[in-house]
Amino acid sequence: MYGSENNREDSERTAFRRAEKNYKLYYDTNASKNKKKKKPKPVDLTEVLDFRSILECHDRNGELPPFVNVIHDKFSSPVFSLQNRPGFYFIPGALSIEKQCSLIRESLIDFPQPPNRTNHNAIYGPIHNLFDEAKEGKVLVEEYSPDGSPKLGPDCDYQDGKRWKFVTEKEELLRKGKSVPASALLRKLRWSTLGLQFNWSRRNYDVSLPHNKIPEALCDLAKELAKPAMPAGVEFQPEGAIVNYFGLGDTLGGHLDDMEADWSKPIVSLSLGCKAIFLLGGKTREDPPLAMFLRSGDVVLMAGEARECFHGVPRIFTDEKNAEIDHLQAQLSHEDDLCFLKYIQTSRININIRQVF
Ligand code: SIN
Repeated sequence: MYGSENNREDSERTAFRRAEKNYKLYYDTNASKNKKKKKPKPVDLTEVLDFRSILECHDRNGELPPFVNVIHDKFSSPVFSLQNRPGFYFIPGALSIEKQCSLIRESLIDFPQPPNRTNHNAIYGPIHNLFDEAKEGKVLVEEYSPDGSPKLGPDCDYQDGKRWKFVTEKEELLRKGKSVPASALLRKLRWSTLGLQFNWSRRNYDVSLPHNKIPEALCDLAKELAKPAMPAGVEFQPEGAIVNYFGLGDTLGGHLDDMEADWSKPIVSLSLGCKAIFLLGGKTREDPPLAMFLRSGDVVLMAGEARECFHGVPRIFTDEKNAEIDHLQAQLSHEDDLCFLKYIQTSRININIRQVF
């Protein structure tokens, strides 16, 4: 699902793939032979739906495009829906700047902590404090158990006689064996899962895996945001969440979120950091998708029929002009926050929260 590079024939087979290819980051190889100065190929964004402009126009003169409806909930921003996509809701700028910043901090410090799993688990087992270790320039090294025994006891973290642990760069120089800088692992962090843990290979929730509940503040936020897409009097119950991390050139291929028991309950999807293009397709990949911008602070709800629609993220914009994160630069300017700012200047984080049962 993540950023797979398709061969040419495959990448043009369906309307969804063609749209992904249209918006994906490609470099203009003719523009410069100097790789350091490689330039993104220009992309035509005129067809990309911009809910911020729709909101501004609506605020100014009450006008809306014919295919957009508005619900005024008690959020600071109106909730937009699309006539031909029942169950899809867009709340531009739903998250305050403070909330965006606190979610960025949590997404980097707390959410990837065990027992929450990340894409790194399969190779390295549980990794603690990745963000802090990266900040300190640490290196993850493979270490063998002293007596070579496969496992030293129930609480021991050696697996098959080996484990990974962080050491300083200096210590790493004195060792032999496999190693990887924490900063490289942070750059390659693609997902972490909160609450009930998702098994990607089986594409289901593995309730037998150890897990913590979704943090209370995130739970309360999701319950509040889910309201426009919930039947009256029914409260959304957040049970699982996937946090997606995107760096330059990363994409999320077209997919359905169909592993939850009750599709009438929405997926609450929060955007943080650099601006992205989101593709909302139809029930098959043959249906031409609608492209729209997702900015930091925007919230999308997908419930009912929209749960059956293919969707994905073919592009994030990390250049200063298009990332549209000036408000985060100002808010994260304190010395303690510069590490978060540095990350988010070239990244996007998506938190999508689900009711599983
Ligand atoms: C998803 O569809 O799972 C994530 C969408 C997003 O990144 O906004």
